[in-house]
Amino acid sequence: MYDVNELIKKDIVTCNTPEEFPKYFLVIFTAKLTDNKPHNETFIAYSKVYIDNVRVIYDSTSTLPLRNRYDNAIISCVYCHTTQSTGPIPRIKKSLINYIS
Ligand code: HEC
Repeated sequence: MYDVNELIKKDIVTCNTPEEFPKYFLVIFTAKLTDNKPHNETFIAYSKVYIDNVRVIYDSTSTLPLRNRYDNAIISCVYCHTTQSTGPIPRIKKSLINYIS
């Protein structure tokens, strides 16, 4: 996931519009957790927020600047992580175009 975002970010900062919604983003709904921990409702709710925000990146009718749309998607990674697994948050924030601490 992290690597995919870095690729999208590179596209955006070099002014290429990413064209297609990558289906592999949807794997988050089925991704197995360590120890086969079941997905709780919070996880499922945040997955949906995340996927919606990723879809907006690829929505050519959106009027929001691409950079903001991209950052919104990354922020939804952070939101979920705040509730589920805080460890990777500093690393995820590095994917933001406009870094916030
Ligand atoms: C819906 C909740 C949710 C969203 C959204 C989410 N994550 Fe995670 N992420 C988790 C959970 C839970 C774990 C711990 C997985 C485990 O226990 O196996 C995790 C683990 C990780 C890890 C550490 C394990 C690894 O594979 O290196 C990284 C890095 C990570 N996520 C990055 C991201 C990034 C980047 C995004 C956004 C593109 C993102 N996550 C979106 C819930 C989420």
